[in-house]
Amino acid sequence: MDYNPLAPESRANPYPGYELLRKEAPVYEMEPFGVFAVSRYHEVLHILKTPEVYSSQGMRAMMTGQTGMTNAGAEGRASALTESDNLIASDPPIHDRLRAVVNRGFTPRRIGALEPRVREIAVECLSAVVQNGEMDLVADLSMPLPVRVIAELLGVPAERLHDFKRWSDAIITSVTGVTEQADPERAVRAREEFLDFFAGAIAERRKKPTDDLISTLIRAEQGEGTLTEGEVLAFAVLLLVAGNETTTNLLGNALLALTEHPEELSKVVERPELIEGLVEEVVRYDSPVQGLFRQTLEDTELAGVSIPKGKMVMVLLGSANRDEAWLPDASSFDVTRNLKGHVGFGFGIHFCLGASLARLEARVALEELLRSCRNIERTSANVEWIDSLILRGPKSVPLRFEV
Ligand code: HEM
Repeated sequence: MDYNPLAPESRANPYPGYELLRKEAPVYEMEPFGVFAVSRYHEVLHILKTPEVYSSQGMRAMMTGQTGMTNAGAEGRASALTESDNLIASDPPIHDRLRAVVNRGFTPRRIGALEPRVREIAVECLSAVVQNGEMDLVADLSMPLPVRVIAELLGVPAERLHDFKRWSDAIITSVTGVTEQADPERAVRAREEFLDFFAGAIAERRKKPTDDLISTLIRAEQGEGTLTEGEVLAFAVLLLVAGNETTTNLLGNALLALTEHPEELSKVVERPELIEGLVEEVVRYDSPVQGLFRQTLEDTELAGVSIPKGKMVMVLLGSANRDEAWLPDASSFDVTRNLKGHVGFGFGIHFCLGASLARLEARVALEELLRSCRNIERTSANVEWIDSLILRGPKSVPLRFEV
């Protein structure tokens, strides 16, 4: 068996490769990287539940290019994410401390309160294009919406939105990009501009605290919890990486799946109350985050395979979510499933901090899209996928519709 997630055919459609892995080699050492790919639901869940063996240092190693699978990790790259303790790349007890502080910024009450503003932004994005009878879902809706929401959460003023998008793109590519398109110089400059901006925003909130996310994090810094300034900055960078493109990809993957399954599209058009379940089904069926990394802290064994201490493990969420041993018709797309238990947002202590925000943004965007556009069709069957080892989503989704 020969599996390489970087092969063009795996990136265009990873699912046949995953199926083979699950059947033939559920814990498979990928050469030449020496990274173990884990593909079945059962073992994926076990890893996510066992941080004392499978450390999130693996996420840091991935972001700094130590897997050999991305070209991240050139001098200085992504260091804002790696020089301070960082939520997604830390283990207990540090993770517990960081998570307790940032949880306060993402309570259901706080996220729920964003709905009217999220809807306003979605409507604004749509009203700029719907009269044309066509749009690119990605450029016109699914990219600007989460970027604007995160920008507002971080207190970025409207006139800096363009810069914010540029910073965010450069940082993301530097962390997960796999091709030569990633440009280290540009990423370093963008990161520095962002950090400068953000350090200024922190200073302002210190003088004049508000009720926003930065103020919440700073208050923690001053007393209730303990976040250093470096940790606050690292968290802001993490929000860009974890919160923007993932949601863009969720919406892109949703429209790909819906236009490929017109009967499912009709169901949600007729019954908009199904949209919430549709969002969950897309996160399972074509997961925006296909894989995570962990690093073993001791010699261990998984599904009969020995994994020595210090090895990198690629946790294939996108495969676990299609495992028929867990969900018998996992390869079909069904908006009425009402499913619990997929691992598209992870599981356990690192379960996605932004899941309720992502669900809110996706639901509201789809509600507004399906309300304002009828008979939606995709105008090109070709899909060009974004350049990433672990994220999956289309670069564009050209749509035609009636208003
Ligand atoms: C469809 C959208 C999204 C998907 C599929 C997704 C997926 C994930 C996954 C799989 C993890 C687990 C990482 C791990 O175990 O190593 C995670 C963690 C995280 N996500 Fe999301 N995410 C999404 C949107 C967001 C948004 C909108 C935000 C923030 C605004 C966000 C912030 C985070 C953060 C901060 C973590 C780290 C949590 C921790 O380590 O304790 N995510 N996400």
